[in-house]
Amino acid sequence: LREKTPVRYDEDRQSWDVFRYEDVHRILKDPATFSSRRGLEVRGETLLTMDQPKHTHMRNLVNKAFTPKAINDLAPRITSITNELLDQVTSRGKMDIVYDLATPLPVIVIAELLGVPAKDRMLFKEWSDTMVKGVENNTDAAFAHMMAERDKAEAELVQYFLKILEERRKKPEDDLVSALLEAEIDGEKLQEQDILRFCILLLVAGNETTTNLITNATRLMTEQPAIQDQVRQQPELVKSMVEETLRYYPPIVAIGRVATQDVEIGGQLIREGQQVVSWVGAANRDPDKFDDPDTFHPDRKPNAHMGFGFGIHFCLGAPLARLEAQIALEILLTRFTDIEFEKTSLTPIPSPFVFGVKSYPVT
Ligand code: HEM
Repeated sequence: LREKTPVRYDEDRQSWDVFRYEDVHRILKDPATFSSRRGLEVRGETLLTMDQPKHTHMRNLVNKAFTPKAINDLAPRITSITNELLDQVTSRGKMDIVYDLATPLPVIVIAELLGVPAKDRMLFKEWSDTMVKGVENNTDAAFAHMMAERDKAEAELVQYFLKILEERRKKPEDDLVSALLEAEIDGEKLQEQDILRFCILLLVAGNETTTNLITNATRLMTEQPAIQDQVRQQPELVKSMVEETLRYYPPIVAIGRVATQDVEIGGQLIREGQQVVSWVGAANRDPDKFDDPDTFHPDRKPNAHMGFGFGIHFCLGAPLARLEAQIALEILLTRFTDIEFEKTSLTPIPSPFVFGVKSYPVT
């Protein structure tokens, strides 16, 4: 597709598909022409669906709370949570990477970061799972059921966070919710609604994606054992191996935008108001950008993949996702001498924009 029809119109989905690195890069770099108000904002506007200048203002505010230092300080906790999760499965001699490690780790980390008490963790996990659950069969009834479940979970989460906000307003703690309440630019603070939506966005944007990153990296090490051998011999490669996973098996394979004016891309005229899907998964394998693009090189450098997007909406949680994946892989490789896939059929996550599997048993 990238070679033969690098920009094509999909009649069924009524949207443009863009596959080449250069074109995807151009789209993500130009938020004035390619808006993020792609329809998702009807469920409540968030950072992800805002355009400038509102986006810049909001992003600057949340950046004050979501600092690199706040993330780096989490390393010891991420290490102990990973070890605790693995302690529970070590005696079994086998585990499901998705279920036993890659799903609970990001949920626990984000819960702690937000200041959700440990006793509420299971409740919190159920809500987060429901918020990102896809539909198995593509019928209208299944879709309506999923949306109703999501609305219910979202309403319960909002109620829950309102309680936490009230408590932190009275007595601030060392957590993200307190920092969000404090964050201020030119005397202006975040509105309560903005904080609530932002907290929910973190769950929706951060949990399943990180689960898939950890799983996809483990999957690569078992599909291509030479990679596992190489990283075991050179543990310093874990960082670049995580980046290469984001290029080769990116958890998010496509990013949507809407054209704000008529514009030409790859010789095709995109009309104002039309939807445009940027296929990051295809762009990340573009031979015009990457040498030997279909080979996984754990030590690839430079690696300008777009697994976390590009431009003003570049993933806010990238430092956190990277840190969790690096720590999880380092500990997996240290604690287990030879990780092998326990062969079963794989079930993909039911979303065309996500690359991941529901379960990945290893021995
Ligand atoms: C934005 C991917 C983890 C929070 C994005 C975007 C991508 C992405 C592709 C850009 C979307 C766009 O341009 O429309 C990923 C991947 C992750 C990950 C692959 C894991 C491997 C996280 C985590 C968090 C997070 C852990 C937070 C806890 C966000 C937020 C945005 C975002 C808030 C919106 C930023 C903005 O619009 O300014 N992510 N993400 N993500 N991500 Fe992530």
